[in-house]
Amino acid sequence: MPVNTFVENAWYVAGRSQEFPVNEPKGLRICGRPVLVWRTGEGKLASFDDRCVHKRMPLSEGRVLADGVLECPYHGFCYDGAGKCVRIPSQLDLPIPSRAKLRPFPVVEQDGLAWLWIGDPALSGSAVPPPTPELASPQWETHMFDPVHVPANYVLLIENLMDITHFYPLHDGNIGDIEQSKIPVEIVEEKLNGVQTVKTVRKVQNYRQPPFMADWFGYPVVDRWHTHHMMGPGLTRVELRCAAPGRLGVEAEERGYIIHHSHTPIDGTNHTWRLWVSTRSKTCTQSIAQTFPTVMDEDRWALERQQRNFAYPEDGYHEVYLRSDKALLRCRKILEEMESSNRSQAVPIAVHKAA
Ligand code: FES
Ligand SMILES: [Fe+2]
Repeated sequence: MPVNTFVENAWYVAGRSQEFPVNEPKGLRICGRPVLVWRTGEGKLASFDDRCVHKRMPLSEGRVLADGVLECPYHGFCYDGAGKCVRIPSQLDLPIPSRAKLRPFPVVEQDGLAWLWIGDPALSGSAVPPPTPELASPQWETHMFDPVHVPANYVLLIENLMDITHFYPLHDGNIGDIEQSKIPVEIVEEKLNGVQTVKTVRKVQNYRQPPFMADWFGYPVVDRWHTHHMMGPGLTRVELRCAAPGRLGVEAEERGYIIHHSHTPIDGTNHTWRLWVSTRSKTCTQSIAQTFPTVMDEDRWALERQQRNFAYPEDGYHEVYLRSDKALLRCRKILEEMESSNRSQAVPIAVHKAA
């Protein structure tokens, strides 16, 4: 398996749109790079390498001047919203060097989220971030949890989401139990906006819900439909629908949630985990908002410890695979293929530079 790496040519969540007010440039670290996100005076998001072209000062430490340019706090290079240096205060009498431009990252705002493409901008082409319609829909009550810094490679979170047999024992007594681990898993693969995706589907009848689920939805015993969908390297969507036995499909009686998990690599061994839960009822969303952080703490606890063991030599170590690992192995393969296409794209650029 690829260790401590990430796919570069993909969309990743940088934050919610509201985290980027006009003219308050913010510095982030995404995919091992310093990233500047700036909502310019026109209200549009722009993103660049967070390094002044002069002497590498982070521009996110700078300020926006009255004429709308971003001033580097060190020697005062000024940049416009397209990342072009338009003023150098110490040599106003000379032309600005043509290379005085910041490297841009494609940025898209969708359903209240800001998405960045950190890889080769030329490859973002017609690619679009995965859809998250519930986040912007008034028909859904959505709660966003505080972003979580996880000291582990982002793939470990994707794997955690795609194989929920960890609900026992990790989440035993709140959202999980051993019975759930026995529910058969169906795997569906499909292309979404040109990206290969993997979805697990678990259907069960007459299932006694673990305590949190029974509280959230008010049905102790249910028929249930549960899916986990890796929609791209940056997002996994979980959908759960349940109803009293025999009533699944009767819309008025169905309850459940949609959870969007975004997993944005900070670097090879850290990521930012964001999670939004959407339900049709305010009370239900509120009770999930109150109790779910326990579950997130348990996952973070496990991922951190798993990651620590990647620091040791393999010494002939091999993971043992179970039936339930099938989906995550497919995810690994897909991410690996996307990563190797990063590398093959990178070679001609390196050759070109050397020449
Ligand atoms: S480092 Fe930015 S102006 Fe010198
Ligand atoms: Fe979990």
